[in-house]
Amino acid sequence: MSETTRFWINGQLLPEREAMIPVTDHGLLYGDGVFEGIRFYHGRPFRLAAHLQRLDDSCQAIRLSLPYSHQELTQAVDEIISTFPESHGYLRLVVTRGTGPMGLDPSACRQPNVILIATQLEMVDPELRNRGIRLIIASTRRLPSDGLDPRIKSLNYLNHILARMEATQAGAQEAVLLNNQGRVAEGSVENIFIVRNDHIITPRAVDGALAGITRNVILQLAVALNIPATEAPLTPYDLYTADECFLTGTGAELVPVREVDGRALRHCPGPVFSALASAFQQQLASECKPKAPAA
Ligand SMILES: Cc1ncc(COP(=O)(O)O)c(C=O)c1O
Repeated sequence: MSETTRFWINGQLLPEREAMIPVTDHGLLYGDGVFEGIRFYHGRPFRLAAHLQRLDDSCQAIRLSLPYSHQELTQAVDEIISTFPESHGYLRLVVTRGTGPMGLDPSACRQPNVILIATQLEMVDPELRNRGIRLIIASTRRLPSDGLDPRIKSLNYLNHILARMEATQAGAQEAVLLNNQGRVAEGSVENIFIVRNDHIITPRAVDGALAGITRNVILQLAVALNIPATEAPLTPYDLYTADECFLTGTGAELVPVREVDGRALRHCPGPVFSALASAFQQQLASECKPKAPAA
C-alpha cells in the first residue's frame, strides 16, 4: 500500500502494520461479507448516503447485522478522510461476518468486522481514458441472479477476477460478463451502457447488473439532458453494433469504449458520452465543493 493509505478498523484509526483482522474471519475463509467503494473529491464523499443505503441492503440480504449506524459510519468516513493527505481519493468500506470456528454457520461468528481504507485508486490509464478502452466478452459468466442476487455487493468476486484475467490475456483493458442466458450483465467492476440512435441503454439488475451508484447518476443526468434512457436486455450483437459504448463505476468513473471483441465502435468518445461526461463532472463539482480553508 502507498504511504498515504489510511486504515480504520472497528472504530480505530490504525497504522498499516496494526491494521489487521484475524485469519479466522469468515470474510477471508468464505467470502462472507459485503463492501462499498466510495470516491471523495475535495474531502467530501460522493453520494455517501446512497452507498450506505446499498451497504445496509447488502447486509440485510445476507442477514449480517451492521454494528454502526449510518451516522456513525458517516463520522468514521469524515474522520479517515480528514487524516488523508490528499483532497481526492477512494474509500473501501468492508463489513465481514467476523471471526468464528471453521464451518459455514455464521451464527457461530462473534461480531462483524468493519474496515475502512482510504487510498488512491487510478483504475484507468489517463491516456486510455481519453482514447477509449478495448473490451472483450469473457467466457466466464456472471453468477446467475437467482443464485446470488447481483444487488448484493458481496466479497465474492472470483468470476469477475477470472473475466478480468481473460481481458488481460487478450490485450484488452476490461471484460464484459454475460449472464447464464448469454445476455450482457456488466463489466468486472463497472456497469455498461450502449448508445443507439441517441438513446442510452443499460442492462437490468435481473440480467446481472449491480445497481451501480454511478449508473444511477447517469440515468438521472440523462433525464436532465433529455437523453432517452432505458434499462433493457442486451446481447453481444448490441455491443458490436452500438454507436457508442461506455462503462460507469465509482473506481473507473466514466470510461468510453472504443472496441468490443475486435470490432471498432462507430464513435469513441461519442457525442452522447461526451455530454454525459461533462454533466457528470459538473454534478461532482456541485456536490463536492472545495471546503473553505480553516480560519
Ligand atoms: C460488479 C460491479 N458492477 C458495477 C459496479 C459499479 O457500481 P458503482 O457505480 O456503485 O461503483 C461495481 C463497483 O464496484 C461493481 O463491483
